[in-house]
Amino acid sequence: MEMTQASPPNAIDENRNGQIGRPMDRVDGVRKVTGRAPYAYEVREGDAPAYGWIVEASIAKGRIAQLDTTAAQQAPGVLLVLSHHTMPPQGAYSTEVQQRFERALPCMADDRIVAYGEPVALVVAQTLEQARDAASLVQPRYEPVEGAYALDAATAEKPSSNVDEPDTDVGDFDTGFAASDVRLDVTYTTPFHIHAQMEPHATLAWWEGDRVVIHCSTQMVEHARARVAATLQIRPEQVRLVSRYIGGGFGGKLPVFADVILSAQAARQLGRPVKTALTRQQMFHVTTHRSRTVQRIRLGASRDGVLQAIGHEALSHSARHDDFFESAAAQTRTLYAGPHRMTRHRVSRLDLPRADSCRAPGEAVGLLALECAMDELACTLRMDPVELRLRNEPRLDPEKQVPYSTRQLVQCLREGARRFGWERRHPQPGQVREGRWLVGMGMSATTRSNYLQKARCDLALDGQGVLTARLAMTDIGTGTYTILTQIAAEMLGLPPAQVRIELGDSDFPATSGSGGSFGAATAGSALYDACEQLRAALAHSAGIDPARAAFADGKVSGSGKSAHLALLAGDAGLAVHGEIASGDMTSKYSQQAYGAQFAEVAVDTDSGEVRLRRMLGVFAAGRILNEKLARSQVLGGMVWGVGNALLEDGVLDARHGYFANHDLAEYHVAAHADIPGIEAVFLPEVDDKANPLKIKGVGELGICGAGAAVANAVFHATGVRIRDYPLTLDKVLPGLRAG
Ligand code: MOS
Repeated sequence: MEMTQASPPNAIDENRNGQIGRPMDRVDGVRKVTGRAPYAYEVREGDAPAYGWIVEASIAKGRIAQLDTTAAQQAPGVLLVLSHHTMPPQGAYSTEVQQRFERALPCMADDRIVAYGEPVALVVAQTLEQARDAASLVQPRYEPVEGAYALDAATAEKPSSNVDEPDTDVGDFDTGFAASDVRLDVTYTTPFHIHAQMEPHATLAWWEGDRVVIHCSTQMVEHARARVAATLQIRPEQVRLVSRYIGGGFGGKLPVFADVILSAQAARQLGRPVKTALTRQQMFHVTTHRSRTVQRIRLGASRDGVLQAIGHEALSHSARHDDFFESAAAQTRTLYAGPHRMTRHRVSRLDLPRADSCRAPGEAVGLLALECAMDELACTLRMDPVELRLRNEPRLDPEKQVPYSTRQLVQCLREGARRFGWERRHPQPGQVREGRWLVGMGMSATTRSNYLQKARCDLALDGQGVLTARLAMTDIGTGTYTILTQIAAEMLGLPPAQVRIELGDSDFPATSGSGGSFGAATAGSALYDACEQLRAALAHSAGIDPARAAFADGKVSGSGKSAHLALLAGDAGLAVHGEIASGDMTSKYSQQAYGAQFAEVAVDTDSGEVRLRRMLGVFAAGRILNEKLARSQVLGGMVWGVGNALLEDGVLDARHGYFANHDLAEYHVAAHADIPGIEAVFLPEVDDKANPLKIKGVGELGICGAGAAVANAVFHATGVRIRDYPLTLDKVLPGLRAG
């Protein structure tokens, strides 16, 4: 089915079996906590594997002048050393391939180095320790050349529109801004963000004849299969890619990387399985990261706080021969009303590893700027920041001029303010002191774009009444196995224990995988469609009008008849196929999920240290399939947002083009001690324009605006506005002293 019209009332709305929405525990939870859910590196299948270890380039740009692998080859246990001397021809990375994760990823193709940490050798040995030891004997000599590593607005280019439209204009921004009573012109910067998944990128690969089987950790098995085929120059059917359990993705596993390509190549040459994991340190350079950004925001408003002009210009980096850019101004096109609008994206082409999607690409850092600028405007206007947002609520999407599918930003703001006790907030910043702490409250609006992709699903019912769904979707830790179980159990009226969801295998029907928060809607809708087919087939064979058939307790009933599904399926079983595609509902309606976030912080006046005290997010994201999992998703996002505001900071060595703090001891993410009271609430909502499940994505929703709420609370506590993230004590303290 295709979304070409609003979805009519259906069995999901009816929820006769009560499976939809209930806080069901993760179906894979016990397997995971008892160690029976093998992640890629733990898969045991076939012959004993050999172990790969990657040697990374220690320059960012230049060439390998000499690479002698003799010593490594002679080291104990070593089976193979791959380098640019021995790699076979590979496909080339080409921006002409639209789907960027399907582009070939040649590794060690020649002597050129285009980014720090690029693999220069793979050492394969009998044991991991032997491989690591021998890898230390590979000491290439480099001829480095100067690279460019710093964002530079003066030389920045307009990116291609492959990822998103770089520029938009509505009305006349310059004139509208100049004519506004109150004008704000501020620039925010956000640092490099690293995905920091718990599970590193890892691969186990072996060949079965001319077909390679790859177990790895990826969000999108279809794209990964295409990339492997394009790189190794084989047909996609010659690649089977499996990713059953994934310890976090966050965008850093949208594509696959050198561990996959090099393990596959080594396994081919050795004729035995090879497994390679990236070290935590390697993950900073061998994979992608989020670019730092420089964002200029200009807001022009009338004295009563009605926006007249909104301008957002965002600069990020793109690897020199790449086309990704951080679409940090995208949400500014749709969040607030205002007649004169302008957004720009520019990129500096740098000699760094590729920048790509990371946790809500666009909004996560875009709102760190926009929502603090709104707070600044409220302050200038002496207006409550919640009130400022209420005054700028659009009736239609202000750029696309189409209605919103659903939009409950106002309701989220009101409900959040009420629950958080916003009325107790002092109207002036820097006024609430508790001993040596200054205490403040801040808020932010939340928005995240909503997508539906293409997906297919096979569904089969056997004579025991066991329902099995197969699709090349992944569960990156978000709970996909569980929500798909709920959908199938609800639709067929079977107990969840009789539902088997099989994911993460490129031999299964293609889906878009997990990304952009579209996973649940996309895979779930394909499964929904398959369930509809199966219901029709079952009703038909029971002699029941499908329109009147009810599915519950393992039976189909209606028209005065009733039959057991298992009996109807019989020994031969019943198999159907479902599919979903996005139609024109995304162009006829502006689709986003919304929320409002509120934070209270305390700032130590002696040290400048910021402590979060409590935080609340109120969200509206269509129907919620599973209360527990959805809450867990948005709480996780909020935690990342706190890290964005206060901690996360990829520090680039500007001389040598590498991340100096490339481990989790130095690259700080928010941990338990950073997160005291945090709560998330969903408002009731059903979005029939989005998909037949009437849900919206929640995976990236929580992070959007969370950091801005914290940053605005820091300002409210101290009266010190910091526009350079993260808000570490070295930036807070000088302001406190000056104040
Ligand atoms: Mo997401 S950053 O599209 O995995």
